Amino acid sequence: MAGETKKGTGTRPAFGGFAADGREFVITDVRTPSPWINYLENGRYFATISGNGGGISYDRSPLHGRITRYRINDVPPDRPGKYLYVKDKDSGEVWSLTWQPVGHEPASDYRVAHGFGYTRAEAEVQGIGSSVVFFVPLEDDREIWKAVLTNRSGRRRRLALVGYVELALGHALVDLINQCDDQHFNRARFEKEANAVFATKTYWVTETRGTQHQENKEWDRWAFFTVNRPVAGYETVRERFIGPFRSESDPAGLERGLASKDMDCGNAVAALEVDVELGPGESADVVFSLGVIAKTEFERTKADVLRKYRTSEEVDAALGRVREEWDRFFAHTRAATPDAEADVFLNYWTPYQAKVAFDVGRVASFYYWGIGRGFGYRDTAQDTIAIVIADPDRVRARVGLLARQMRRDGKVYHHYYGDGQGEFTEHCDDPLWFVLAVTEYLKETGDFGVLDAVEPFLGGGEGTVLEHLLAVAGFAGANLGAHGLPKFGRGDWNDTLDYIGGKDGGESVWGAMFYVAMLDRLLELLDHVAAGGRDAGGRGGEARRLRAKLVEALETHAWDGEWYIRAFGEAGRKIGSKANAAGRIFINTQSWAVIAGLPDRRRLVRAMDSLAERLDTPYGPKICAPAFREIDPAIGLITRCVPGKKENGAVFCHPAAWVIQAECLLGRGERAFAYFKKLLPGRIPQETFSAEPYVYSQYITSDEHETAGKASHSWQTGTAAWMYRVGYDFILGVRPSYEGLVIDPVIPASWPGFRVERVFRGARYVIEVENPDGVERGIASVRVDGRPVRGPIAPRPAGSICRVSVTMGKTA
Ligand code: GLC
Repeated sequence: MAGETKKGTGTRPAFGGFAADGREFVITDVRTPSPWINYLENGRYFATISGNGGGISYDRSPLHGRITRYRINDVPPDRPGKYLYVKDKDSGEVWSLTWQPVGHEPASDYRVAHGFGYTRAEAEVQGIGSSVVFFVPLEDDREIWKAVLTNRSGRRRRLALVGYVELALGHALVDLINQCDDQHFNRARFEKEANAVFATKTYWVTETRGTQHQENKEWDRWAFFTVNRPVAGYETVRERFIGPFRSESDPAGLERGLASKDMDCGNAVAALEVDVELGPGESADVVFSLGVIAKTEFERTKADVLRKYRTSEEVDAALGRVREEWDRFFAHTRAATPDAEADVFLNYWTPYQAKVAFDVGRVASFYYWGIGRGFGYRDTAQDTIAIVIADPDRVRARVGLLARQMRRDGKVYHHYYGDGQGEFTEHCDDPLWFVLAVTEYLKETGDFGVLDAVEPFLGGGEGTVLEHLLAVAGFAGANLGAHGLPKFGRGDWNDTLDYIGGKDGGESVWGAMFYVAMLDRLLELLDHVAAGGRDAGGRGGEARRLRAKLVEALETHAWDGEWYIRAFGEAGRKIGSKANAAGRIFINTQSWAVIAGLPDRRRLVRAMDSLAERLDTPYGPKICAPAFREIDPAIGLITRCVPGKKENGAVFCHPAAWVIQAECLLGRGERAFAYFKKLLPGRIPQETFSAEPYVYSQYITSDEHETAGKASHSWQTGTAAWMYRVGYDFILGVRPSYEGLVIDPVIPASWPGFRVERVFRGARYVIEVENPDGVERGIASVRVDGRPVRGPIAPRPAGSICRVSVTMGKTA
């Protein structure tokens, strides 16, 4: 197992730490406070796996294409999963190759490493060393579990190794709520020539909502589970494998032997047993794989599919390609700062998490079943900003997808499924996130052709991407309330301010700031393309007037003396004001005042200082304070939530990234980095933090609750995308613009310098920054390949390496 690990900072022992090179998180105590998971995926086939083997698998959609079951929120937790049981045929002793589900003691015999696209579980039990690596190859829609067993006992051992999964087979929600009927459509069989179990369901639902409509179709996939050695026994029915009054910890099938008999109906599982006999010192490789084959291609491709990944060499080569792909991805940005911990996140774990969130669409995790909601419009729009640097083509496709969720009046589905289904709500912010996605794509790539791409509007008609952008501006202009601020509708970025809209229409102050920031982006784009001779049909003027009106309304109505209020509720009631007992100050209307570039710098500085004074905690800044302790139906869900949790006063990590950006925009590098550092996932003692210390969580419980410091909803949060971009764009200060690469670091004065690499439009920029005067911001000189430059560095030829030396210093 790689390298030494770093200890946690708390008084309780740590459960794990990063390997010395930062590329693996090694769990040394598998009794983690919550399942610490990893994602294995190729953008089509998805699997999660915890340090104890728990997790789901699905093909394309966690709702419609669920392969295996996972029971969130059950006890014991984190089951079922991808399980490998070993039975010593002579002693009868049984254990598993991950600590759970058998839970063989001592747990210290087990270690797990989560890496990029793979997880490796190692154990030493009863003189048998084992190492299993789980991953999903880039090219094939399956997961591979490669186990190596080594006999270190000094005597001959006769072992049975059993791979086991519990199958859902199709629509996960129907499987969950209608299992009693659904099981009657399960078909499973073992095929000897193929050495595999095949399973499917002859009934399938593709509707996204609960419905009485019984669709007349079957799941369009066969799931398969196979192994590279002759199968000595198998099972396809859970009732027989587990047995009555037992669980995955002590399945009856391992005691009495597998039934090796096909049966349709019942809870479907796939269990395959192989015999492994090992002399002293001998090792054996066993490769299981679980995957799907489209029924239309089943007969034609089955033999080829099952022939693959039968040798260690082939498996190792496929894993090598997974590693290379992540290396390619990571190589687009690289940071070497005086803070090694920050570097590990900026170089690896934050872009890794952001890419996973982009691929998963934020729908499935240890917390989210992936069955209830479609893809969030604002979430999937924001996720693009982290991916565009290394995978612009994926973002271009996502821009098209987002465009297709829009009506001609600029309204978009709040949640969509990608197949034309979705739901309109009255959130005031959703459509504007499209502007972020498109403009970041264009700044990164310069691919202005995308503006002419034609996409259909929901409800009929079509338009170019530029027309979609203008439709968004039209939506914004038509959605203003009594103070000239956006009508709140069902919510804004904060989904739990869902009843401020009320009967006579509350207004969102944050929404106004957000509109201003997005209109700025649109205007910058229109100016840029106009300079290039492209005409936007004179629509820029409207957007400019709207921007000016919004700024005026904000400055006239939203300043509360020391900070900006959050909203106007019914009858002009102020929310997020010093006049309120709870929710007096909210984070987003301070940070976005700065991001929107509101004109009064004194107010901006005061607002950010108020935020620091009233919202900051040892865990990071809270989303609002004080938390609501009384239910207020005229505000909404936020007030129904337990104080200190989630939107009701927790440290919500996603908007904390905007605080860092705002501090950078004010030039306060010391503060910006202090927030950044504080929010790094590994900072809180692991027992307290509870969630994975290698990825961001959606929120950290604040000091208004007894579980302060406890994080929740890890992985699927916009935090990663924003922390990644805010880290590179605003702290290290290297960001794309239409003209070229902007250099504008905002760092702690104590940093003597740093180095950053970034790929931009195909060229690699190697940027060395020195800070001899100990400033937080300011550029004395920039030299590109030895020559002084001012302003953004114009794009260099693709494939070239561009050396940039930056000297920071006091500017007059
Ligand atoms: C969740 C939602 C996101 C929303 C946030 C704040 O993270 O996915 O869309 O902005 O909560 O309510």
